[in-house]
Amino acid sequence: MNARARHAELMREIRAHDYRYYVLDDPLIGDREYDALYAELAKLEAEHPELASADSPTRRVGGAPRTDLKTVEHVVPMMSLDNTYDRKELEDFVRRVHDGLPHGATPAFCVEPKLDGASVELLYRDGRFVGGSTRGDGVAGEDISENLRTIRSLPMTIDHLGPLTLRGEVVIYRRDLEAINQERAAAGEPLFANPRNAAAGSLRMIDPRAVAKRGLRALIWQVVEDLGGSHSAGLDRLAELGLPTHRQHRTCNGLDELIAAIAAIEEKRKDFPYEIDGAVVKVDSLSEQSVLGATAKFPRWAIAYKFSAERAVTRLLDIIVQVGRTGALTPVAVLEPVQLAGTVVSRASLHNREIVQSLGVRLGDRVSIEKAGEIIPQVVGVETHARSGDEQPWTMPERCPVCSTPAAESDGAVAVYCPNAHCPAIVKGKIIHFSRRYAMDIDGLGESLVDQLVDGGLIRDVADLYELDRARVAALDRMGDKSAQNLIDAIVGSKERPLERLITGVGIEHVGQVAARQLAEAAGELATLLAWAPEEIESHVGAIAGFGPKMVESVKGFLADPASRELLEKLLSRGVSRRQPVAVVAAGGPLAGMSFCVTGVLSKKREDVHADIRAGGGEVHDKVKKGTTYLVAGDKVGKSKLDGAKKFGAQVIDEQALGAMLKGDGA
Ligand code: IVH
Repeated sequence: MNARARHAELMREIRAHDYRYYVLDDPLIGDREYDALYAELAKLEAEHPELASADSPTRRVGGAPRTDLKTVEHVVPMMSLDNTYDRKELEDFVRRVHDGLPHGATPAFCVEPKLDGASVELLYRDGRFVGGSTRGDGVAGEDISENLRTIRSLPMTIDHLGPLTLRGEVVIYRRDLEAINQERAAAGEPLFANPRNAAAGSLRMIDPRAVAKRGLRALIWQVVEDLGGSHSAGLDRLAELGLPTHRQHRTCNGLDELIAAIAAIEEKRKDFPYEIDGAVVKVDSLSEQSVLGATAKFPRWAIAYKFSAERAVTRLLDIIVQVGRTGALTPVAVLEPVQLAGTVVSRASLHNREIVQSLGVRLGDRVSIEKAGEIIPQVVGVETHARSGDEQPWTMPERCPVCSTPAAESDGAVAVYCPNAHCPAIVKGKIIHFSRRYAMDIDGLGESLVDQLVDGGLIRDVADLYELDRARVAALDRMGDKSAQNLIDAIVGSKERPLERLITGVGIEHVGQVAARQLAEAAGELATLLAWAPEEIESHVGAIAGFGPKMVESVKGFLADPASRELLEKLLSRGVSRRQPVAVVAAGGPLAGMSFCVTGVLSKKREDVHADIRAGGGEVHDKVKKGTTYLVAGDKVGKSKLDGAKKFGAQVIDEQALGAMLKGDGA
């Protein structure tokens, strides 16, 4: 096959797999197989630059970082929706619709989820994606075309020649936000409070390469052009074209059906992988829509039905200031306990000084709190009309509340931090971080124990953990010989963690788990990292894919800092951390493209079997699912796993057969 034909075939294949994975959430092949196709395409384009068109999957993140965002006008203004909250208001809406249409009309309605993300306009012209923008003020938004191109659920070409002006929501799946936030926590960066903020923030980022890592998804809820006479027909047609619509609409007649459809969406709310905050009811027929028209702000043919917001009002009793491991002083609201979305809330985040100021909150105020995306409750508003006059203004303290060192400012004075590296709060925060699951994973080292260890002078930094005296630990509050021994065992056990965990654990700003792994792979072992001469660091670190200048600077700063060097030397001398395993480039491994689930009692630890499979290029999953190639079964296998294998057509093999495959002998 010639290069041009192979190129076209690869484009088609990758596009089809993107569709299965990102739109249908039902992939046919594993990551490695996909990566192999992608690598082949990239190679082909490198050899034949004339083949690489703007629509190629390799060009999704090609755009260079910008310095600003251009403003662009929408083809037709993007209106927003009026809200309703109960049956009565919905009834009023239905009545208004009937009144606005010719006598005797029986309008059909379309009911669908109201997606809680960032709204965007997407433009396709002559079968190609040509760009898109944020909603902005509804008339004009910001040109975010390059960032939208990184969203893999959006096809770059479609089989439709007429213009398509699409509106939709860019969302982040809850599970993806968890991963992003974990990465941010590990890198010492502030967490996103909810998926909406994360999506909106990501869309406006300057560097498309960074956007590409955020796992954004687009879900279309409207097409401006007429594709079949009705809103629902339009959405169906878009889905046929392979565009990512939300696929959750239902047409109904009459109020009762509407209410039932809304209730069905609310019931499924928690099952959607993304956040929704209500349902949208739209008159389905486009001609009826145009008869109804719009007010200055809202269309008369659509309305939002908001689910009861996970919001509550309570009294602000106090604001305390917490000091984290990075030294950042974070104001936290102490609240009169209140029920919110199934839990009792008595603390809520106030983020930073600027947020406290912009809320204008005073001690004693009645405040509204929200559980944003079920993560951290936060104060979102102040009921100023309910003030008695006794409320007291609050300002950020000028000294660290823990060690009394005068606070310093950073980030253009938004962030206030304690500059004292020996501040007990910072020391404790660092130890807790070090022991976390995603870092050195030291079981049993909870907050109260760390308090006792630091306050009692048993440890001053994470390296001291490795010289803890068992008898002194046993003498601590609520400890004893047995629990002291367990803790020491867990600490000693953590010496075996590979270098990447240690790097995550010591905490280098902007270096999360993924970057820590890359850095560990570049160095190999701790001694090498320490042996890098200052002038070498730049070239070693700068060569790591995805390490931007901020990260390079941060690593350089960390490795040049005598205090962090001393800590690493101390850890090294105490035998902490193992060599970073060499990442196997397993694209061509004997198990490439296969996916495995391992179950039952095996001759070695399950983690080790997993590692063997990965080293052979295979993928491992905890459950048998569609696409699982093999179920590796040891002794005492549960029926559900075997049933799963049958259902999804996975072949059941034993450990020996796996061993043979790993040697390349086939199953
Ligand atoms: S239709 C003219 N449908 O909610 C019709 N909007 O509060 C305008 N939204 O700005 C909107 N899901 O960003 C529509 N299924 C959906 C939606 C939806 C989320 C957003 C949209 C809009 C806002 C209005």
